[in-house]
Amino acid sequence: MYRTHTNGELRLTHVNQTVTLSGWVQKVRDKGFMMWIDVRDRYGITQLLLDENRSSKELMEKARQLGREFVVQITGTVIEREAKNKNIPTGDIEILVTELKILNAALTPPFTIEDETDGGDELRMQYRYLDIRRNPVRENLIFRHKVSLEVRKYLSEHGFIDVETPYLIKSTPEGARDFVVPSRMNPGQFYALPQSPQTFKQLLMVAGMDKYYQIVKCFRDEDLRADRQPEFTQIDCEMAFVRQEDILNTFEGLTRHLLKEIKGVEVAQFPRMTYEEAMKTYGNDKPDIRFGMKFGELTDLTQNKGFSVFDNAELVVGIAAPGCSEYTRKQIDELTEFVKRPQVGASGLIYVRYNMDGTLKSSVDKFFTEDQLKLWAEKLGAEKGDLFLILAGNEAKTRTQLSILRMHMATSLGLRKPNEFAPLWVVDFPLLEWDEESGRYHAMHHPFTSPKPEDLHLLSTDPGKVRANAYDMVLNGNEIGGGSIRIHDKETQSQMFDLLGFTKEEAQNQFGFLMNAFQFGAPPHGGLAFGLDRLVAILGGQETIRDFIAFPKNNSGRDVMIDAPSAIDTSQLNELFLDIKPIS
Ligand code: AMO
Repeated sequence: MYRTHTNGELRLTHVNQTVTLSGWVQKVRDKGFMMWIDVRDRYGITQLLLDENRSSKELMEKARQLGREFVVQITGTVIEREAKNKNIPTGDIEILVTELKILNAALTPPFTIEDETDGGDELRMQYRYLDIRRNPVRENLIFRHKVSLEVRKYLSEHGFIDVETPYLIKSTPEGARDFVVPSRMNPGQFYALPQSPQTFKQLLMVAGMDKYYQIVKCFRDEDLRADRQPEFTQIDCEMAFVRQEDILNTFEGLTRHLLKEIKGVEVAQFPRMTYEEAMKTYGNDKPDIRFGMKFGELTDLTQNKGFSVFDNAELVVGIAAPGCSEYTRKQIDELTEFVKRPQVGASGLIYVRYNMDGTLKSSVDKFFTEDQLKLWAEKLGAEKGDLFLILAGNEAKTRTQLSILRMHMATSLGLRKPNEFAPLWVVDFPLLEWDEESGRYHAMHHPFTSPKPEDLHLLSTDPGKVRANAYDMVLNGNEIGGGSIRIHDKETQSQMFDLLGFTKEEAQNQFGFLMNAFQFGAPPHGGLAFGLDRLVAILGGQETIRDFIAFPKNNSGRDVMIDAPSAIDTSQLNELFLDIKPIS
């Protein structure tokens, strides 16, 4: 038996018991006549004691061979500590060691295995198995496990069946590039790894499974960010015989359940906001509504007053930053620099101080009277003590820029509280979006999304205006899930492919299997997928999903621990009929 207890288990009630523990050496303190060793496992840390008067010379000598991260097994007696440690649950006791076995030696780890480590990101990723020994990383993984378990419980209790779908498939368009896998048995042909199981879950609806879910890996070859990984996990769901309302209620229920069970937070019914309203009010289709600073449009109020920046702008729009009227010149300059950075791209920033005495002072006093500024204050819903931050220019770009500034202000004012949760639905997304590069429309969600019946007449005249039965769930400024009611008849699906610029042959080649299936009695259906990594990170009060993935990829899509991707040898290339030179 390697152990009778874990290292997080022993208390004063165990005093005088003989126990056996196993684990990793966290720390050794050697005072010569006495030695203390902290031994660690997943469950906690227990202090071991060796003492010249009570322990044999051989035992003391053996203990002196121990280094950090050695794997040991010890037997000893639980005793009460003289100097108690209130910071750990086992802090009242220690083990007077009678036997010590070194199960495995260890090299000195390249960084300290402590809550606050001295290891940089890259090094920690290279030795991720050591990083996971650290409490914060391990706890994130355990947290993820708890979330997944609650998801499974909830969905299973609500009649959803977990069905696995294949990973070696044909391209499913979700807007990213595919990862492809060459087929040895079919020379010159490739599988694509699923960007999502979208088509399969729809086929499961045709197959009569009624309610499907899967916690499933998805693969997308796209540029990485804090909230994106090339392989990530979805909670993928689909339901038959449902309208949008049924889906929103079901998955709002799931999210409410998670918030309650995992965070102890009760949330009332989620607000719903149309895409249009979200863009107008927050410049963003995933608004963080934990705080205000809603957009106020000032275009009408600012025209023809002699200020060319406003006169030449398609849109003049601002926010009122709460309590910032006394920002120093330096602080305002910093904000101006911030919006002028290429990543934001504004040409400048106009400000107005709404002083506590009710006076208004702006950077454009030459052109606008105080009475005019009062009207701005109304539009921005401002209060005394606020600082108005105003941008002007091209409509879409200016909204995006102000939205970035709004988030920046919220972060610096401490308004993005990690333990406050403000979920909402954003609904009525446009069906299509115009892509400048290719000069044609793309499906905003994916090509299987159904248009709103009341907008169908616009399909031929003004396709950009057609709204879809598509929705996103947003939590604290992050898109944590999205889905739609699907097209379920061959005709409409085929029309949609036409509209997206697919030739009949291309559509048939890529999606013939789905359109054929629709001819065999496809029920009305719809669904959604949550990004599990994002959901877990946000519930955990963070936004970097990498911290919640056991073995993530770095920003170049590399696994630096196993060193992948890597070259393969010529024989393997030949076997796959790949005529490329191996790169060493
Ligand atoms: P969508 O593409 O919106 O929808 O993806 C669903 C959710 O998955 C998460 N997500 C990601 N998480 C981490 N890294 C990524 N690279 C990444 N990409 C997406 C997001 C997102 O909301 N088949 C549809 C769903 C449906 O219509 O039912 C789909 O995949 O949180």
